[in-house]
Amino acid sequence: MIPVYRLGYASFQTKDVEAMIEYYTNVLGCVLVDRADDGTAYISNGLEHHNIILKASNHSYLDAIGWQVNRLNSLQQIRSFLKEKGIASEILHDAQPGIAEQIQFTDPDGNLVQLYHEINYSAPGFGNHGIVPNKLGHIALSAKNAKTTVDFYREILGFKETDWIWDVANFLTCNEDHHTLNIVQGKKSYMHHIAFELRSAAHQFKSSDILAMHEIPTLWGPQRHTAGHNIASYHFDPDQHVIEFYTDMDKYIPELNIMEPKPWHKDLPQRPKKWDSLDYWGTEYAFALPSIEEWKEDRPIANLI
Ligand SMILES: [Fe+2]
Repeated sequence: MIPVYRLGYASFQTKDVEAMIEYYTNVLGCVLVDRADDGTAYISNGLEHHNIILKASNHSYLDAIGWQVNRLNSLQQIRSFLKEKGIASEILHDAQPGIAEQIQFTDPDGNLVQLYHEINYSAPGFGNHGIVPNKLGHIALSAKNAKTTVDFYREILGFKETDWIWDVANFLTCNEDHHTLNIVQGKKSYMHHIAFELRSAAHQFKSSDILAMHEIPTLWGPQRHTAGHNIASYHFDPDQHVIEFYTDMDKYIPELNIMEPKPWHKDLPQRPKKWDSLDYWGTEYAFALPSIEEWKEDRPIANLI
């Protein structure tokens, strides 16, 4: 098993790099750190060199996810482990600014996974305008075979399952956050949403005000989810990806297999369980994920390996 412990970055191909840079810098308040000769943009949330990569393309889709992995195993040892499991991988050197060495391979649904030990802490810090989230907190993926994909993240990358909603959403974590990854059973393979952690409920309301100033409607929420109990709200980025803002997410204690107790937990202790609704307050779901699924294209299969 390869003990992944931190979500690092989301890499996108995009039809409009400049519109996405404008969104990430002026609306989210992240910082443009680097532009490659081909125009690829590297954007930092605050600490790491980058948390978002934007590459010009004829399609708009998530093309890779970066995870930080601890130093117990060298990348060469990780490569050997993956080979034993029948998984092809390659080690890259200086493929991205700020990351000297990484290893990449695909998960069973075709998502490109990139692992690294170290990324430069060379960003200029948090932004001074816009929303300015704490961090990129989780990624949700629609997978054609969610069970196989979940098993992969559990058995190969050491994720733990923390909750389920119906037979559709599978919540996984690689650290104390309730989820850093959500695998959703779908008919197509695409990024379901990515989520940024905010500081507080007040920051959550402020985020909708800032979105409104930029004429970006809040599509659903704020409301409190069942799985993870996070306050959450959703909107579209310029590429029509669903972006979640959240705060107040459950903390998972793996040694006890419980969530850190909170006054709003109905179960004490709150253990991983299967929920039969999306939200805790009964908030009306204003945009239907199945309709998103209908128009979302399969993201192209990663072809780097
Ligand atoms: Fe989410």
